[in-house]
Amino acid sequence: MAIRPILELPNPVLRQRAKKIRRIDSKVLRLAHDMVDTLQEANGVGLAANQVGELRRLIVIHLPEEDEFRIYINPEIVQRDGEREVEEGCLSIPGYRAMIKRSVWVRFNAMDHTEQVVKFKAEDILSQALEHEVDHLNGILYIDHMEAHQKLIPVESNDEEDHEAADEGNKLEAKAESGPSDSSKSTDLCTPGDDPRETPASLKML
Ligand code: NI
Repeated sequence: MAIRPILELPNPVLRQRAKKIRRIDSKVLRLAHDMVDTLQEANGVGLAANQVGELRRLIVIHLPEEDEFRIYINPEIVQRDGEREVEEGCLSIPGYRAMIKRSVWVRFNAMDHTEQVVKFKAEDILSQALEHEVDHLNGILYIDHMEAHQKLIPVESNDEEDHEAADEGNKLEAKAESGPSDSSKSTDLCTPGDDPRETPASLKML
């Protein structure tokens, strides 16, 4: 098991579609365990294989209230409904967050690492994390869900470095325009990170 580097935008692998896993062999299991280690080290909620450079349909989720990491192979959102505004960030777009819309609930199918079929309905942060990670497998990032009036918000804007990064981020997110940012509705995605500058208490990275 090993910690793998997490790819960041604009790495093109983040924009590619991952391929279905045909056989859960030792290579897939090693990747899954490496992703668990990598997610744990990053103190995030979710990680998709694209983010460690592997175009395979595999995601791992670690909910703040759970001890176990969830490993899902060939995950699919088969139904979704409702709309809610959530605060979201991504380990591949460090230093930023934004308010976007996600479903109220999803119905989810996958296989776990023991080849058992898993089917359930998810709400709250689990639903959000599943939508975010399955998006990753399709080359979609949360910034793609931003609307024109919404802004990419620097996670920490108190020092020079982050101001520079913010400028870069606005270039990168061409849709970002000036307008009121509203973080008052942010959902509670939180548990404190190791470094509060990187992971503020109000945000968990997906
Ligand atoms: Ni992400």
